[in-house]
Amino acid sequence: MEKIGLFWGSTTGNQEEASKFLIDYMTSEGFKIDSHDIRSTNPSEMLNYKKLIIGCPTWNVGELQEDWENIYEEYKKLDFTGIKAAFFGCGDQVGYSDNFLDAIGLLAKPFINNNGQLIGRWSTDGYEFDASLALDGDEFLGLGLDNDNQEDETEERLIIWAEIIRDDF
Ligand SMILES: Cc1cc2nc3c(=O)[nH]c(=O)nc-3n(C[C@H](O)[C@H](O)[C@H](O)COP(=O)(O)O)c2cc1C
Repeated sequence: MEKIGLFWGSTTGNQEEASKFLIDYMTSEGFKIDSHDIRSTNPSEMLNYKKLIIGCPTWNVGELQEDWENIYEEYKKLDFTGIKAAFFGCGDQVGYSDNFLDAIGLLAKPFINNNGQLIGRWSTDGYEFDASLALDGDEFLGLGLDNDNQEDETEERLIIWAEIIRDDF
């Protein structure tokens, strides 16, 4: 089976913890998965995979986590033809209701524009917020996690989403 490349960034550990959960889950499902902290990874390494999982929390009111911010210009130039990717991100729907999960949109939209095939959209049911760049119609472009306000839902959300992307990969 082809490998999955998981590329993540995390400042206070929530996205990292969710990434570890996904690694364990996908490994137990028989996938081989390489984990890359984007802090120490050249974004062009994404092109070595046909299947990607991309994880980025939203920081600084509607911006990417800092390590993603550092490589964003280069990321936006990548040609994702022939690559499938699933996006997930941590956010805070109470503290940042006008920018909830914006980073998912900031990363997913250039991926789609550069010929990538996006999988793993996620319903907005169960979240309350005012605006998000992650929205496409009434769905998020990827999985949203909110450990600041809904930590008890994180594991179940991860399991359900992991099953969806497992089938779509
Ligand atoms: C200064 C600051 C700004 C933030 N801005 C946003 C934001 O604009 N949108 C959002 O959804 N979450 C925002 N958050 C919440 C973080 O995304 C959330 O705490 C996340 O779990 C952090 O992930 P990490 O621990 O992997 O770094 C912000 C948090 C802080 C401390």
